[in-house]
Amino acid sequence: MVWMDTRGVEMLTVDTVEHAVGFRSLEDEVAGEGLEVHGELPAWLTGSLVRTGPARFEVGDRSLAHWFDGLAMLHRFAFDGGRVTYSNRFLHSRAFEHAEQRNEIGYSEFATDPCRSIFARAQALFSPKLTDNGSVNVVRLGDETLALTETPLPVAFDAHTLETAGVTDWAERVPGQITIAHPHHDAETGEMLSYAAHLGPRNRYRLYAVAPGGALRVVADVPTDRPAYMHSFGLTERYAVLTEWPLVANPIKLALSGRPFIENYRWAPERGTRYTVIDRRDGSVRARVQGPATFAFHHVNGFERDGELLLDVSTYDDPRVIDLLYLDRIRAGAELPPATLRRHRVPLDGGDVTIEPLAEPVFELGRIDYGRRNGRDYRYAWGASDRGGAWLDSVVKLDVTGGDEPRWWFDDGCYPGEPVFVSDGEPDSGVLLSVVLDAPRDTSFLLVLDATTLEEVARAEVPHAIPFHFHGDYLRED
Ligand code: CO
Repeated sequence: MVWMDTRGVEMLTVDTVEHAVGFRSLEDEVAGEGLEVHGELPAWLTGSLVRTGPARFEVGDRSLAHWFDGLAMLHRFAFDGGRVTYSNRFLHSRAFEHAEQRNEIGYSEFATDPCRSIFARAQALFSPKLTDNGSVNVVRLGDETLALTETPLPVAFDAHTLETAGVTDWAERVPGQITIAHPHHDAETGEMLSYAAHLGPRNRYRLYAVAPGGALRVVADVPTDRPAYMHSFGLTERYAVLTEWPLVANPIKLALSGRPFIENYRWAPERGTRYTVIDRRDGSVRARVQGPATFAFHHVNGFERDGELLLDVSTYDDPRVIDLLYLDRIRAGAELPPATLRRHRVPLDGGDVTIEPLAEPVFELGRIDYGRRNGRDYRYAWGASDRGGAWLDSVVKLDVTGGDEPRWWFDDGCYPGEPVFVSDGEPDSGVLLSVVLDAPRDTSFLLVLDATTLEEVARAEVPHAIPFHFHGDYLRED
């Protein structure tokens, strides 16, 4: 049974939504707690999985509006000799400190504005009130471990103690007001490659590279009339690709509308999607081509083949998913539209982009054998999926060549997050690490799967339920 809310969104008519516990605030913090392990952790697993995600959804008497708005918490699973310890700690960003000390929302988040009095003094986007709430992703750049969100304010923290150091020094050199939390790693140069939107009288997309130590260079500078909401970008060995889904903002409204960030973006399907292909060697635009209107958060991989550029993306038909991830809806069991892995074929010498499905299952939060396969032809991708429910409830392995049938892991009442691939040294071989919410038991566990078979290798019980979170990475040298 479903019913429609006031904006025509379908809601489930159930008294309690099983997975809603994944959107409840977590206040407990623990440090280096040994976890009970069922099964056997591989002896070669000696690094740490470090993740970030929203964990506090209320400040003072206000609730944050959207899943993406919650105050960030870091989680660390450290492996050694078949054992694992767990730590978690709030990221002490300026946004968090303000909330702690003043008991009010002080910064603009994705879909929540600060309290009125602050907002009146400083307008959202072009003010010093840009949030540094690094709830989306964790990356390592040289000696720095950074928590990222979509503002140019990466927050450095200690990868062992999870103690916050503060906004990194090179933040002031990021060439724009909006960036992404999904940079790529350039294995050849050791640089972090990302893009920023610079808004002003003339709007630009700027591809930029940051070297370990913080030296920053602009690789390419491309004009745009209306900046698109982009959460990640495509990369091949030679090219970087901006995929401008037609969810676009008038930059003046972004600065002056007085509305939360994402509410300034409008779905304009008549624009189609614009693919800007940038040559990474000299920053020149190799092609700017059109395709059907679609929306995505996550590029999974990209590569070149026979004069075409192929981008495999977890693709939605439209951006409705953003509307459905407001906390009031998602806690009430709003059913999400499916993302599936689709191949966007980008011709480099004329013609339009075409899109073809690669596999049937829902596919989000995808990972690959990144060190070996990123930007190159590949075969396997791992992601979170659902088997027809209202939330991601399984892990799936896809063969993008269509050779093997999908493989699955699932368990009753369990909701796995992003499965992070960790190589054992052989291509596409190793384990997947996923933090799973066990809703009926009101707790979480770390799941270790064999990446080849998707059989369960081990699970380690966490002392509390970890709210649904986004991304992180496995840090090897630890
Ligand atoms: Co993401």
